[in-house]
Amino acid sequence: LFSTVELAPNDPILGLNETFNADPRPTKVNLGIGVYTNDDGRIPLLRAVREAEKARLEAAVPRGYLPIDGITAYNSAVQKLLFGAASPLLAQGRIATVQALGGTGALKIGADFLRRLNPSAKVAVSNPSWENHRALFQAAGFEVVSYPYYNAETQDVDFTSLVNAFNTYAPGTIVILHACCHNPTGVDLTPEQWQQVVHIVKERQLVPFLDIAYQGFGVGIEEDAAAVRLFAEAGINSFIANSFSKSFSLYGERVGALSVITSSEAETLRVLSQLKLVIRTTYSNPPTHGGAIVAAILNKPELRALWEQELSEMRERILSMRGNLVAKLKQYGANRDFEFVNRQRGMFSYSGLSAQHVERLRTEFGIYAVSTGRICVAALNTRNIETVAQAITQVLNT
Ligand code: LMR
Repeated sequence: LFSTVELAPNDPILGLNETFNADPRPTKVNLGIGVYTNDDGRIPLLRAVREAEKARLEAAVPRGYLPIDGITAYNSAVQKLLFGAASPLLAQGRIATVQALGGTGALKIGADFLRRLNPSAKVAVSNPSWENHRALFQAAGFEVVSYPYYNAETQDVDFTSLVNAFNTYAPGTIVILHACCHNPTGVDLTPEQWQQVVHIVKERQLVPFLDIAYQGFGVGIEEDAAAVRLFAEAGINSFIANSFSKSFSLYGERVGALSVITSSEAETLRVLSQLKLVIRTTYSNPPTHGGAIVAAILNKPELRALWEQELSEMRERILSMRGNLVAKLKQYGANRDFEFVNRQRGMFSYSGLSAQHVERLRTEFGIYAVSTGRICVAALNTRNIETVAQAITQVLNT
């Protein structure tokens, strides 16, 4: 049966993580995967999460099945966080939200539903994008094309080319957009550019699928949801996949959601019924723990305030690491200017390092980065930053 089965290539991000874990060097540094670690190099267990878990343990709740679409209090908290509590869409019942297994799970439910709805639609992802976007939509059966996004010369968005590409797309084309903290570049559209994108999407009847995995890591919780809210205000039928892996530091709990903006309450009911069909035939219903913890935090004012404070601490620490990295690279005499790293937002920096530089960092110094040159700034700390800056300088200058 398996004699012709080929060995699949390693995943560019999770595969790298496996290689990192197997590396025996005690000085190794993992700047590959998008995971936030604190100044001790550990994944934090947020105090808000600990409090919510303590309360849940004490309540000793039975472990029944969740409904197919997940916890109601969770889904409504997700809607408020993404669209704003005062959004008229909430009052009008125009958002269908289902709990999902992380942001990836949300993308997959949306992709499977869209494939049933419009099997011949093309999917367009930014160039570059998170590697799994292309793979996931291809696996769902779509043809995936890419639209220009990043200009390596200007270290900024090539907006004119993006607009030109969008203007060639047929109605129904699904455009994948990073709502904030673009992965991998860290370079986002400006508010004015977002407005133009919303206009083109509406005019050309494209289907926007927003991925928001880093809400709170860019400028702030509200500010980072601005793009989602622009699509909502324009009343465009949109898909939004959100993740709490990073913002609650709950990576392994797989907590996310898919929200779909519909045109009426009746449409919401029908869309929801189809999303539930996809979920039931994929994994039946979601796990309880992560969703219950996030719902408890978002719905209890004291826990919510604590979480917001912890999230802003993470964001501030990343920003200070960006500044430190730029300063150290200058101090060690790196042969190029890294000031652009200070302009990028979120967990990543598209560093401009080549695949060869990345390879040398790994083999000579035990420093892991994605081969595209993406480094996770959120994994830098006061203990490893000297080593990293020295190593980058060395691979660039020699
Ligand atoms: C990343 O981009 O590193 C994260 O989103 C983790 C993942 O699943 O790839």
